[in-house]
Amino acid sequence: MTQKKYRYALIGCGFFAQNHLNAWSQNPDVELVATCDVDFEKAKTAAAIFGGRAYESAEELYANEELDFVDIATTPPTHKMMVELAAANGVAAICQKPLAWQMPDAKAMVRAMADKNLPFMVHENFRFQTPMRKIKEVIDSGAIGRPFFGRIYFRTAHDVYSAQSWLVESERMIIVDVAVHLFDLARYFIGEPKTIFASAQRVNPKIKGEDSATILMHMEDATCIVDASYETKSDNNTYPQTFVIIEGTRGSVTLSADYQLQIISEDSVTNEKITIPDHGWTTEPWNGIQDSVVNINRHWIECLKTGNIPETSGLDTLKLLDITLGAYESIDSGQVFNVGSLLK
Ligand SMILES: NC(=O)c1ccc[n+]([C@@H]2O[C@H](COP(=O)([O-])OP(=O)(O)OC[C@H]3O[C@@H](n4cnc5c(N)ncnc54)[C@H](O)[C@@H]3O)[C@@H](O)[C@H]2O)c1
Repeated sequence: MTQKKYRYALIGCGFFAQNHLNAWSQNPDVELVATCDVDFEKAKTAAAIFGGRAYESAEELYANEELDFVDIATTPPTHKMMVELAAANGVAAICQKPLAWQMPDAKAMVRAMADKNLPFMVHENFRFQTPMRKIKEVIDSGAIGRPFFGRIYFRTAHDVYSAQSWLVESERMIIVDVAVHLFDLARYFIGEPKTIFASAQRVNPKIKGEDSATILMHMEDATCIVDASYETKSDNNTYPQTFVIIEGTRGSVTLSADYQLQIISEDSVTNEKITIPDHGWTTEPWNGIQDSVVNINRHWIECLKTGNIPETSGLDTLKLLDITLGAYESIDSGQVFNVGSLLK
């Protein structure tokens, strides 16, 4: 018997959605039945390339299509409306990050999906990068002992604004755009922080929000530094790579430029270049991120098939959002933020 294909629609056919569409196109378990974008030309172009019918509004999409899930890749201000619309129509959903700008909105979105018992995942893809899965394996194997220090960073001079012009006007910028992913990696590798302290600057005067941020995260028995910048003139070649250092009681694991992984354990040192799988449509320098979309999509389908809760479920993402929004509270107050405060 052939397995049923999950019927999905892609809502928001802009810059990053191209990775979603390409990644889904190689997934044998799904069928793209529709694309949707308020910029109708984008929806039509995506449908012409990847298949399905094109819609200009999500309401019209739900009125005309039977869907198993929607993949929401619109910009953040629309996420709440989109997730609530999916819930109202009884359709499971994946939503791009950041989930929301405000915690009450995020809670309402999670509640709306939970009330209907609908699977709900946030597209928090950095932990699904092949090198990050490998680092997690190393930590879980015990090879470096108990992690007590981490540094997770993303620093570049790459012009992110020409492909994503909405970032120029965004009052909140690099923390919600990229540090959110690094916080998630810190949680994934080391655990939940108890407190955080954040400092940020706006270096580029042409933008509204912060483009450089450093956050100190205190875990139960570890410290992790997360830092991100879009104005690091010394580095124009490694975008969009994330670097990681995790030190443990018995060794360390370090991911450096071009996916070089070094594992130091009590009695050995290994150096390995992690190969990013080639999916045909993936291209350097984006391949590491593009591959993570293939992996997170696969994880979602696995969860739909098994009924398992996705690693980056809406509920789990409330904890991530608490840290992310807490970083802004720390910047505004100049004080340490007690993690969990926004969840109460
Ligand atoms: N996870 C990652 O690695 C990653 C990378 C880049 C962007 N993103 C996220 O992806 C999302 C989209 O970012 P982008 O840079 O691709 O933006 P974009 O502006 O290029 O694309 C967004 C699209 O959504 C459409 N849209 C807006 N409102 C709509 C509505 N009400 N109905 C239908 N379509 C609507 C826009 O017309 C646009 O085509 C953001 O949440 C961003 O944070 C994630």
